[in-house]
Amino acid sequence: MTAEPTDPIAELTLEQKAGLLSGRDFWSTKAVDDAGIPPIVLTDGPHGVRLQPGAADHLGLGASIPATCFPPAVAVGASWDPEVAARLGEAVGREARALGVAVLLGPGVNIKRSPLGGRNFEYYSEDPLLAGRLAAAHVKALQAQGVGASVKHFAANNQETDRMRISADVDERTLREIYFPAFEMVVEQQPATVMCSYNRINGVHSAENGWLLTEVLRDEWGFTGAVVSDWGAVTDRVAGVAAGMDLEMPYSGGATDAEIVAAVRDGRLPEAVVDRSARRVIALTALAGGDGDDGIGELADRHHAAARELAGECIVLLKNDDAVLPLAAGCRIGVVGAFATEPRFQGGGSSHMNPTRVDVPLDEIRVLAAQRGVSVDHARGFTADGDGDPDALRAEAVQVAGAADVAVVFAGLTDRDESEGWDRDTLELPMAQRQTIREVAAVAPKTVVVLSHGGVVSLEDWHDDVVAIVDGFLLGQAGGGALADVLFGVVNPSGRLAESIPLRLQDNPSWLNFPGELGHVRYGEGVLVGYRYYATADVAVRFPFGHGLSYTAVDTTDLAVEATGDDTAELRITLHNNGSRSGKHVVQVYVSPPPAPVRRPIRELRAFAKVSLEPGERAVVELPLTRRAFAYWDSALARWTVPAGEYGIEVGADAMHVLTSATVTLAGDRVEHPLTLESTLEEWLSHPVVGAELLDRLAATMPAEQLDQSAEMARLAGSIPMRQVIVFLGDAAPREWLDELAARTVPGA
Ligand code: BGC
Repeated sequence: MTAEPTDPIAELTLEQKAGLLSGRDFWSTKAVDDAGIPPIVLTDGPHGVRLQPGAADHLGLGASIPATCFPPAVAVGASWDPEVAARLGEAVGREARALGVAVLLGPGVNIKRSPLGGRNFEYYSEDPLLAGRLAAAHVKALQAQGVGASVKHFAANNQETDRMRISADVDERTLREIYFPAFEMVVEQQPATVMCSYNRINGVHSAENGWLLTEVLRDEWGFTGAVVSDWGAVTDRVAGVAAGMDLEMPYSGGATDAEIVAAVRDGRLPEAVVDRSARRVIALTALAGGDGDDGIGELADRHHAAARELAGECIVLLKNDDAVLPLAAGCRIGVVGAFATEPRFQGGGSSHMNPTRVDVPLDEIRVLAAQRGVSVDHARGFTADGDGDPDALRAEAVQVAGAADVAVVFAGLTDRDESEGWDRDTLELPMAQRQTIREVAAVAPKTVVVLSHGGVVSLEDWHDDVVAIVDGFLLGQAGGGALADVLFGVVNPSGRLAESIPLRLQDNPSWLNFPGELGHVRYGEGVLVGYRYYATADVAVRFPFGHGLSYTAVDTTDLAVEATGDDTAELRITLHNNGSRSGKHVVQVYVSPPPAPVRRPIRELRAFAKVSLEPGERAVVELPLTRRAFAYWDSALARWTVPAGEYGIEVGADAMHVLTSATVTLAGDRVEHPLTLESTLEEWLSHPVVGAELLDRLAATMPAEQLDQSAEMARLAGSIPMRQVIVFLGDAAPREWLDELAARTVPGA
């Protein structure tokens, strides 16, 4: 006989249980020594461990123990490779374990609604499937190391402006289709915790939102871990506990613990609800680690090498005219720009960590150049912070570039241009940098620009002047080496944009409504976020979501699609590496829906795979398309619905360019809305269960000339609710008989 497991809260007082529901200090929970409940450490994340031994803060200010800074999510998003996310998650997990961290805060899976979002560098994509698959791979690998994840910020935290108060006013279909799915995919991996966001959703703070934290997260998706508040997100603690917000962080000095106790004592909060949250917090203590005083030790070298490899997978080659890249052996290059010597490789704010070392691009370029007989000159051209004499700096750069075969300009944004805590108001690179690019390009016909930035930057007033653009986003501490690898062709660029680059800020669908006003931000574009809008409205962009070039050429042929059920399908596609280099290729599968009762995007990413191919190699890729690949959220039915019809299955070079397509016809769902007297005449007549009977009855009881079934009549009278139709028809359609027909349309009738 096995003994009943003892309830971990059985011996605890109400005060002790309430005490477990808020932090002891900035980064840890309270212990209950008598009951053997240890404290645990939760800290940022997500692309490296930020463990602060001394002064604590969540703004990226105080010092932290050195750990490997891997590529932030903006770069991982562009890898389009769950394997990259998994390797990163595993490595960060190992370091967290070594440092005694129980829960590493992240990954952030919020959707990049606007390119201005101050924290876009910490998020993966404007597309939920891409964000969700990458994050799920990260979480699975991280947790396999015995460290808990905290997927954040749940939910609709898509801006920094007024982030602790703003109400994201967003309809349920948009939440379900765009802002929730990445969380839902991660929850399938049972992250140890979910971090609720600061903002309100339709007026209700996430930290007190029972629909969000209990009905959707737990009852529908099956989450069994603990919900933790974002640092300082709690407003009404008692309402939060009732809503399912288990652990308040960082700490309340005991004030909110006392509020919980008082609410139980005066009957406003059932003790069982407190017990439930306390059990969840105690369950987290199974992750408790050691003290981690010794740092990450021998992991440092290995992980620096891994960070370089992973960063190489994330770089996107946006443009490469005349195959100027990779750089040819024996040439002379002029390297320009402050970012060549002072790399920007991570974002500002709570995820800002202390790297074990940093690769400087210019140094790494020199190493590879020496092996290839390439000579390297350098001029700053501009300073990152805008200091110095811009004319003199530029003149020096022009001189170096003019003497080179190829000029390579390292441009980008600094922590002063973008950070957690505030949103940007422009997509432009600083003026001094744009001027330097243009003047360098005027004297060096082969000018390559390498970009380092967290949020999208506009390429508008210089992209035509240069022959190649390499997008390096923020690549982590080994990004300098990874950029050198791509410039010299040691690594084939295989990243793809995870976010569209618009022509103008005003073209972005959120533009009219971002970042909101008077405490509200209206998600007026609905599901038409990012490429979903650009593709549907046929709005030109500079480079679409999914775009990215390669040093090799891969053909995509023989697309075959077949239905595998009423609402699922499978596709097969053949890839052939026609080029002379080995490289990775991303298969992007978009689904284009038939007409539906709601406006749907013209195409949506529904499957993808990254495949490695040797020169001349062929590969057949098979991908399943699940029910969700075809479904929309029907708000009237409150469920996912797959309309019957013919779906386009498009394999795209990116979201705006279809390479090859096929169709598949699906039986879909039998959607029968129950009829009421509020239903229109057309809804009655077209109803599959009772429509024909109603028409027969009308034909039998009404004079033929009144039963005009012409298209004009249908259009004219079709939208009249039945309650009004029966007034017009009188005895021809008696009320009792309609009630009887309506009863037959109720599901289960
Ligand atoms: C951020 C979180 C972070 C927390 C702890 C908050 O300000 O929004 O992402 O994990 O601070 O640093």
